[in-house]
Amino acid sequence: MNPWRVSVAPMLDWTDRHCRYFHRLITRRTRLYTEMVTTGALLHGDVARHLDHSVQEQPLALQLGGSEPGDLAQSARLARQWGYDEVNLNCGCPSERVQRGAFGACLMREPRLVADCVRAMVEAATPSRSGERALPVTVKHRIGIDQEEGYGFVRDFVGTVAEAGCRVFIVHARNAWLKGLSPKENREIPPLRPEIVYRLKRDFPGLTVVINGGVRTAQEMHVHLAQLDGVMVGREAYHNPWWMADWDQRFWGETENPATDRAAVERAMVAYMSERRAQAGTAWPHVARHMLGLWNGQPGARRWRQVWSDASRKGDPAEQVWQAAQRPA
Ligand SMILES: Cc1cc2nc3c(=O)[nH]c(=O)nc-3n(C[C@H](O)[C@H](O)[C@H](O)COP(=O)(O)O)c2cc1C
Repeated sequence: MNPWRVSVAPMLDWTDRHCRYFHRLITRRTRLYTEMVTTGALLHGDVARHLDHSVQEQPLALQLGGSEPGDLAQSARLARQWGYDEVNLNCGCPSERVQRGAFGACLMREPRLVADCVRAMVEAATPSRSGERALPVTVKHRIGIDQEEGYGFVRDFVGTVAEAGCRVFIVHARNAWLKGLSPKENREIPPLRPEIVYRLKRDFPGLTVVINGGVRTAQEMHVHLAQLDGVMVGREAYHNPWWMADWDQRFWGETENPATDRAAVERAMVAYMSERRAQAGTAWPHVARHMLGLWNGQPGARRWRQVWSDASRKGDPAEQVWQAAQRPA
């Protein structure tokens, strides 16, 4: 089975290492992505803070933001050293900050530059010694920019970037409107057009094509998987994490799923909170904030969530908060 079949999207401020650890307790096979890390932050900042993670999080892809081939190559080298399984280039983020840095979605207007970036990353991600593994270099992008609605735009982008050595394209199936919409609106207002992504797969059958955008049910995932290589899910997986509890069996052909009940996952997260506190001084709310949707739809979920998000408890040990959060049996 191809490793991109099902994945959780890169989400800034959301899919940090704690979130990924949590998701990994619920699904072992689903591919996980980091938040976007800019080459500037990586090359001039605290590398460990950005790249350190638990081995349990694997398979794990590092998403990069940048547009300078040399910097991206250097960052891809770091990704390899730090044990990532993939390095992904962000060509889909429409935020103003990212536009000022001239990367993200506006890179779709410059397929040749993206090709140069990919070429440099592929070279850096390929080990010089045999026996070491090469990291796949992948690209996440939109189907168009602003009012550019024609299929030819995204087809030519993919064609040019594929020639540079990218074999995996993760396509958020809507345009990015670079002026006038916030990033949040840019995930909601431009219409979804999955048929464009299906057409890409038909025209480039040798590439791995993954669709992203607006997927909320397993049924929708199956519909996409009948045409494409993979589905990437963002917000719904974050807000309703227990949805992922049957994915290993359903999508990956495993005989069992890693977690059979929410309470066991919660207990494992409390252990992880204690471990992070001891190892790095991390306060439990940084971890707990990602699991607030765990009991969604279950009796007592509201009170449970309130306890775990109660700022006045932040000085208490995680075990104590856990006791207070227990729902009536
Ligand atoms: C809070 C948040 C942060 C995001 N940050 C990133 C990011 O760092 N890199 C990226 O490529 N996309 C980012 N996205 C977009 C998602 O990866 C995804 O493309 C988008 O949410 C559509 O998928 P969905 O409808 O399944 O959520 C972000 C989305 C959200 C909600």
